[in-house]
Amino acid sequence: MPTLLHLDSSADLTNSRSRTLSARFAEEWRAAGADHTVRYRDLHRRQLPHLADAALHWPERLRPDDANPPADAVTLQNELIDELTAADALVIGLGLYNYSMPSTLKAWIDHIHVPAVTAPFDVEVQPMAGKPALIITSRGAVYDVGTPTADWDHATPALKIILGEALGMDVDAVTISRTLAGRVPALAAEAERGKQEFDAALERVTELARRYAHKE
Ligand SMILES: Cc1cc2nc3c(=O)[nH]c(=O)nc-3n(C[C@H](O)[C@H](O)[C@H](O)COP(=O)(O)O)c2cc1C
Repeated sequence: MPTLLHLDSSADLTNSRSRTLSARFAEEWRAAGADHTVRYRDLHRRQLPHLADAALHWPERLRPDDANPPADAVTLQNELIDELTAADALVIGLGLYNYSMPSTLKAWIDHIHVPAVTAPFDVEVQPMAGKPALIITSRGAVYDVGTPTADWDHATPALKIILGEALGMDVDAVTISRTLAGRVPALAAEAERGKQEFDAALERVTELARRYAHKE
């Protein structure tokens, strides 16, 4: 039974572009067949705690002798890792927050990226290797190539490294920008392009969902 793990992290519960795009993706995944299931986790509505103890970055056998992470934190981490590794595909929606990822999503990353468990270390373990992952990043301002802010999105590149390099997943990224054009006077002239980017992103996530769903 092909399972999609669908994560949202935008703190906007009424007008979020990334939520709209990730929902479109999940809808198309479900449309691939009754056996295509979706496991949904809203990281903003049901926030995870920060990583309780640095020892949790390692499996038990690699932790310092005096490590004693709280048992409930270990249980939560195992639950999150099991949920991830049970998935055949992953879609993550996020807004760019202070040039980085929402802290709710970062908390999830800190729990699931564990060397020798989800990423290679002294053993070549990589349970997510080759599985597809889509990162959908919605950004308020302009980050076009050739502009002074072209490299200011530090969320999408970090997620690509974690999911693609560490976890070995096949990563795609869909980014939109200019979403603050209706609110920030200096961006007002960008509104039409922002709408075009959003419409193109809707088509792209639909196409990617079909591709991911039929990979099974
Ligand atoms: C806390 C916070 C920080 C933000 N920081 C940035 C930023 O650094 N750069 C930017 O372009 N937009 C920033 N924005 C705007 C969001 O990226 C933009 O509204 C985006 O569309 C949010 O995603 P969403 O539409 O899925 O909610 C910020 C918004 C919030 C709420």
